[in-house]
Amino acid sequence: MERKIKVAQLLPIAGLIVLVIGCPLNAQPALKGAFKHAFYIGTALNRNQITGADKNSVAIVEKHFNSITAENILKWVYVHPEPTRYDFAPADSFVAFGEKNKMFIVGHTLVWHNQTPRWVFADDAGKPVDRETLLQRMKEHILTVAGRYKGRIHGWDVVNEAVEDDGQLRQSKWLQIIGEDYLQKAFEWAHEADPKAELYYNDYNMWHTGKRQTVIRLVRELQSKGVRIDGIGMQGHWGMDYPPLDELETSLLAYAELGVKVMITELDINILPNPGSHQGADITQNYALQQELNPYAAGLPDSMQAKLASRYAELFKILYKHRDKITRVTFWGVHDGVSWHNNWPVRGRTAYSLLFDRKYQPKPAFDAVIRIAGGE
Ligand code: XIL
Repeated sequence: MERKIKVAQLLPIAGLIVLVIGCPLNAQPALKGAFKHAFYIGTALNRNQITGADKNSVAIVEKHFNSITAENILKWVYVHPEPTRYDFAPADSFVAFGEKNKMFIVGHTLVWHNQTPRWVFADDAGKPVDRETLLQRMKEHILTVAGRYKGRIHGWDVVNEAVEDDGQLRQSKWLQIIGEDYLQKAFEWAHEADPKAELYYNDYNMWHTGKRQTVIRLVRELQSKGVRIDGIGMQGHWGMDYPPLDELETSLLAYAELGVKVMITELDINILPNPGSHQGADITQNYALQQELNPYAAGLPDSMQAKLASRYAELFKILYKHRDKITRVTFWGVHDGVSWHNNWPVRGRTAYSLLFDRKYQPKPAFDAVIRIAGGE
């Protein structure tokens, strides 16, 4: 009895010590911790982060994220710039960084119509290659790249952006030269390269009805042929007024119905004025810089910070609600200073699309997202 009282008396003191020592260190909760029971929280890494040159970004990544995607360095044009030349050095560092930090490592991307060198589709005379040649090139590329990181890269965006918003198959060189079965071949060779890796189809505007219907058809066809496909990546290049919340929810439920994992890849919310009526993430879109398209060059007013935070909150509320179906939410960049939105779809703007600002500090949107994990 006497002993128990003594322990009880000590408890408040022990609590105080924990509070004093622990609190300053843990004052800022980690994203990955807050969502530990929901899904992976990922980020895209650029070259300076991969090399470690951008130390402040690396500190954010190590604290907050448990999954990484290569923003550019695994794209064909960088990893395989010439027919017989591969440049694996950056990708090797990227994978080593993920392993050191025990992260879920995502390879982006094996087959895409953009950031793919011209030579892939042309013969020595510059004429389009035939189906067999292109299939052969695709196979060699996939087996070499995905094969090199066998057992180390955990999931691959095998095919990126094969479908238009209206549901037509994109008229890429892959489709034109090979035909629709290029998708199946890509997945089969990715599986051959690394039988344990998860394989994904990844695209933007995945909430559009037309795109959704075609993606569902494509996935069903792969499944009926026994071709491995593990997940669907819904690129989250979103705006303040799109996607409509109900369409986002309908789409992610429809994809989950296929029995595959759903992930939000490439999340960033663009608060800058939208030139024209474009939505989505076609990287070839480019509008001239005009002052009115870059209204917050000197900083984002508090009122806009608050709007961005509530937009993040309403979107995350849906993602969190469906956490049994969503396995990963990956942001497209670590902080506003490195967001691709600084240069797309207009070059030279000052973007505010992410959760950390240019000074590596968490923004109100960060707090809003953390609160969702707390059930608010
Ligand atoms: C973007 C990168 O963020 C930029 O650095 C690069 O200049 C162009 O590509 N959809 C995708 C990504 O699948 O690979 C794109 O990334 C953004 C749109």
